[in-house]
Amino acid sequence: MSQNLEKLKEKIAEAHKGGGEQRIAKQHEKKKLTARERVDYLLDENSFEEIGILVTHRTTDFGMEKQKFYGDGVVTGYGTIHGRLVYVFAQDFTVFGGSLSETHAEKICKIMDMAVKVGAPLIGLNDSGGARIQEGVKSLGGYADIFHRNVKASGVVPQISAIMGPCAGGAVYSPAMTDFTLMVEDTSYMFVTGPNVVKTVTNEEVTSEELGGASTHSTKSGVTHVTAANDIICLENIKQLISYMPQNNKTAPEKLEFKLGDEHREILESIVPDSSNKPYDMHEIIHGIIDTDSFFEIHKNYAENIIVGFSRIGGRSVGIIANQPMSLAGVLDVDASKKAARFTRFCDCFNIPLLVLVDVPGFLPGTDQEWNGIILHGAKLLYALSEATVPKVTVITRKAYGGAYDVMNSKHIGADLNFAWPTAEIAVMGAKGASEIIFRKEISQAEDPEKKLAEKEAEYAEKFATPFEAAQRGFIDEVIMPKDTRRKLIRAFSALENKAVLRPDRKHGNIPL
Ligand code: HXC
Repeated sequence: MSQNLEKLKEKIAEAHKGGGEQRIAKQHEKKKLTARERVDYLLDENSFEEIGILVTHRTTDFGMEKQKFYGDGVVTGYGTIHGRLVYVFAQDFTVFGGSLSETHAEKICKIMDMAVKVGAPLIGLNDSGGARIQEGVKSLGGYADIFHRNVKASGVVPQISAIMGPCAGGAVYSPAMTDFTLMVEDTSYMFVTGPNVVKTVTNEEVTSEELGGASTHSTKSGVTHVTAANDIICLENIKQLISYMPQNNKTAPEKLEFKLGDEHREILESIVPDSSNKPYDMHEIIHGIIDTDSFFEIHKNYAENIIVGFSRIGGRSVGIIANQPMSLAGVLDVDASKKAARFTRFCDCFNIPLLVLVDVPGFLPGTDQEWNGIILHGAKLLYALSEATVPKVTVITRKAYGGAYDVMNSKHIGADLNFAWPTAEIAVMGAKGASEIIFRKEISQAEDPEKKLAEKEAEYAEKFATPFEAAQRGFIDEVIMPKDTRRKLIRAFSALENKAVLRPDRKHGNIPL
């Protein structure tokens, strides 16, 4: 017994050394924490329960039987974040570059299965050279076992991936199938094929950073949702992100204590400019509505013409989707549609109510958009919002034109409450464009066509560039003063708390992917 105890202590001490002091020092030199340091920082103090610390690989090829490390390059287990249970794996770059062997994959699969069984979020801290080259197809199979579990867990428990080092080859597909991918600037990258293969196949010269660094994926590809300057900030981001989510699809997000007070916000009266063509920052409206400092933005630097993020309103977790007039006048384009559609589906999976703030002049015209499939991608957002059964509330602050009016959580596609500010303009198109089409003859035959156009424009604007026609029809439930918006929304989300919708009996719909 005492002999075994000594052996056990030795093995555990060895496991804690990972790939050895030199490799740990190298990791620190790169300004990266080790896998164990990351887990320690992420979880509540002393809450981590490790699983599989004594696992070693089974390969005998290439002299591998002589090189075994306890844990086999991944630290797995469970613990708590702010008292809430989570399952976590952290790849250890000091052991074979964090590469994924058959047993390494088995460890990850085991905790994925546990997370789904008990209904708790799964967090993966990725730092890996990809498939363990010495293991060949066993490693590829291991990846596929993880991918399959990612899909089965999707919409059942929240899945978060942090990329905290290299992530190459097929390894990128597990993060891509989770709900959120976070990256650390300068020390992490993701690509299907690295710069050397790119050079061979396409003759392009590109660095790892340019090809798949945090900046590339947060601005150009949209693969990453949140970036951080270092490991610590990345781990802090995970903790904050998870605070808006429930444990699983059967539970609601945590509601913070809140007492209704004077919720009027005078600041909201002066944000929308008098001229309808002047931009303004939709963030100002968001901050005027939400609980103080509660906004956590997703995809901040990607498709900036739409804002998405989590927040709290009256203590409740809410997902916000908002057109951003400061960027491309807030139009809907391919990237904005994809960004908002994906966010909508996450919120709907996990019982997070949606608030949609609308100031949209329409879809972006042009060959670039049409040839890149704005029809298909715009349809994603239309489908996602229409399909979502969580409480859905809309506030039109200014423009709601054309098809974009329908798409942006209109009453017609199932929004529960639709508010508009007195500054709202709800019409098929802007007054000038509309007048030029429908009064073309009258204008061209007029003595002074310019004057006539201005007259007709004013006539059209008076009738349609207001919220009143829509309110008369019941498409808008109430025209509200901006300063009252926060109070209205607190009450709206409270009233909608027990909303229940029966879905049709079908396998699943066919979202235009
Ligand atoms: C086995 C690996 C490894 C791997 C790295 N190592 N990657 N061992 N399998 N995939 C080992 C190295 O031999 C080295 O061991 C240690 O990890 C650290 O690696 P370095 O190269 O010294 O580190 P660094 O300079 O930081 O470079 C990191 C790296 C590089 C960029 C990740 O190691 C690299 O390019 N690795 C190969 C990446 C790759 O092609 N992977 C396969 C992708 S294909 P020692 O003992 O010297 O410390 C794939 C298919 C999956 O993943 C498909 C699923 C569908």
